[in-house]
Amino acid sequence: MRGLKGKVAIITGAAGGIGKATALRFAEEGADIVVADFADGAGTVQEVEAKGTKAVYVKVDVTNEDSVKAMVVKAIEVFGKVDVLINNAGITKDAMMKKMTKDAWDAVISVNLTGVFNCTSAVLPHMLEQKSGVVLTTSSVVGIYGNLGQTNYAATKWGVIGMTKSWAKEMAKNGLRFNCVAPGFIGTEMVKKIPEQVLAEKILVKVPQGRLGEPEEIAAAFAFLASDDAKFINGAVLSVDGACTL
Ligand code: CAA
Ligand code: NAI
Repeated sequence: MRGLKGKVAIITGAAGGIGKATALRFAEEGADIVVADFADGAGTVQEVEAKGTKAVYVKVDVTNEDSVKAMVVKAIEVFGKVDVLINNAGITKDAMMKKMTKDAWDAVISVNLTGVFNCTSAVLPHMLEQKSGVVLTTSSVVGIYGNLGQTNYAATKWGVIGMTKSWAKEMAKNGLRFNCVAPGFIGTEMVKKIPEQVLAEKILVKVPQGRLGEPEEIAAAFAFLASDDAKFINGAVLSVDGACTL
């Protein structure tokens, strides 16, 4: 499969985890990649290029409008266009509601929700002008069903679904597509912060497939939704979660 041959994708949070796996899968599908992350993305760039497409690392803080605008300028300077934006950068600051601080609320809203607004705003003028583009955002099982200790995070992951559906209604007529992937619990740094006992006794027992997902399994969903195979899918949320939401 080379379903993304000749495409250019900006992937936020691509230094590690799901974002890095998505960058590598997109490279296999023939896309050039802007590895956009606060953390060092040199490793991802090297691995993408080993697969035969081009990549550039842009240090970005998705909470900062100027930083995000500079990311899009750099992408167009290097590759001449942007076909796909993957809004994937995200953080957790978990605490039960009775202990959740305003700082923890603000921090998560700022990255997971305002960051998605910032990045999408920054690529839109370009995508509207070229009359094509795909914006995909990482939601979560937690956005759809809620989770103990994640008031802030759940709000953002439900929020991006509402944003995505609104954008599809506004801009499908302009040739643009907007969708979310809602992963279940995936084996990345983010999940390593869950207390071991909670993960084993409260979370994994509720996953019918009985295991954590792999970042590559989320990357595969993004690759499909970014490709022309998904050209009539707009405003959708694709759950990739081992049936843990049933
Ligand atoms: N699901 C079910 N039960 C949970 C739970 C969860 N996610 N998190 C905590 N509990 C339970 C604990 O097992 C404990 O139960 P018992 O009283 O029966 O022992 C009770 O809630 C209180 O938990 P703690 O003693 O740990 O309370 P705390 O105040 O010290 O810590 C916490 C609370 C910070 C929420 C901590 O328990 C925690 O980090 N839990 C995990 C939260 C979580 O699931 N985060 C997901 C991160 S990964 C992610 O977000 C990616 C994604 O999109 C899926
Ligand atoms: P991760 O922690 O491995 O990767 C997150 C990346 O985002 C990191 O490289 C980090 O540097 C980057 N980042 C954080 N804040 C940033 C900022 N302000 N600007 C730019 N980059 C920033 O976590 P993971 O698991 O790969 O998460 C990726 C996305 O998937 C997140 O949106 C997360 O909420 C979502 N998700 C993760 C699940 C999981 O179980 N791991 C499940 C469902 C959704």
